[in-house]
Amino acid sequence: MKLKIDNLTKKYSDKVAVKDFSIEMTEGVYGLLGPNGAGKTTLMRMISDVLNPTSGKILVDNIDKNDLGENYRDLLGYLPQDMGYYKNFTAERFLKYVAALKDIDKKIAKKRIEELLKVVGLIDHKNKKIGKFSGGMKQRLGIAQALLNNPQILILDEPTSGLDPKERIRFRNLISDISKDRIIILSTHIVGDIEYIAKQVILIKDGQLIKASTGDILLKEMQGKVWKVEVEEKDIVKYEERYQVVNIMRKGDKVQLRILTNHKPEENAIDVEANFEDMYMHYFNEKIE
Ligand SMILES: Nc1ncnc2c1ncn2[C@@H]1O[C@H](COP(=O)(O)OP(=O)(O)OP(=O)(O)O)[C@@H](O)[C@H]1O
Ligand SMILES: [Mg+2]
Repeated sequence: MKLKIDNLTKKYSDKVAVKDFSIEMTEGVYGLLGPNGAGKTTLMRMISDVLNPTSGKILVDNIDKNDLGENYRDLLGYLPQDMGYYKNFTAERFLKYVAALKDIDKKIAKKRIEELLKVVGLIDHKNKKIGKFSGGMKQRLGIAQALLNNPQILILDEPTSGLDPKERIRFRNLISDISKDRIIILSTHIVGDIEYIAKQVILIKDGQLIKASTGDILLKEMQGKVWKVEVEEKDIVKYEERYQVVNIMRKGDKVQLRILTNHKPEENAIDVEANFEDMYMHYFNEKIE
């Protein structure tokens, strides 16, 4: 399957939230990476058919989604950034409720819910009230509801926010497992979430596509841009004024700085291999969370 985003634009009165955004996707995981306000949610809501674009098109195998009508919705699974839950619902009841909204046959839904509760590791908690769930459990339930109709296009808006490191790893493995025969688009501003699982990383800033490429290529392009220098404590400020310092590490009475710059900053500087965080800082010039 091919999902084509063609010159998509969204304007809110005077604010252009997404601008001339174009990309083509096939099966696999796409990591949408960008800082707060970049336009990730706006883009995902348009793809999820809950927000109308100001201009531009979304096509599946070259057919405009507007011509597909309900058939387009049937292809979709969506986990919104701010998914609301009924605290008094149990996990199972909540999934039954969503299945009914999606018009899934009761018998089929029952079986599917059982399967999905296993996939997301909540089968032992199916009769527990959502109000008693941890953040990670809620996110996994959110993924389960998005998967109910076995969607070909799965859209997850910041699915890992609020998860602890252990839950993050578990989540990554889950996404990897279910990514074989579908397009998964997931947004985040945490680089580690997509470093290993994304087939392509899509960088978005100010509503525009900055770059879309494999992680390997993005890192290769960083060659010669990341440097280590050992400096005196008192000189740190001097370097911070001149360069983008991404890390400061104490080493005895000296300090080791990791800096981003296109040119060798000084004679003793060592050229080091870039990681995803360096790449993020290079494009977005933001503090890593
Ligand atoms: N309903 C709206 N009306 C006006 N402006 C909006 C609306 N929704 C979003 N925006 C603006 O559009 C821009 C993109 O917002 P969006 O929520 O898509 O960003 P995001 O990348 O998802 O950010 P975050 O990482 O914080 O979730 C922001 O400047 C935001 O303030
Ligand atoms: Mg958002």
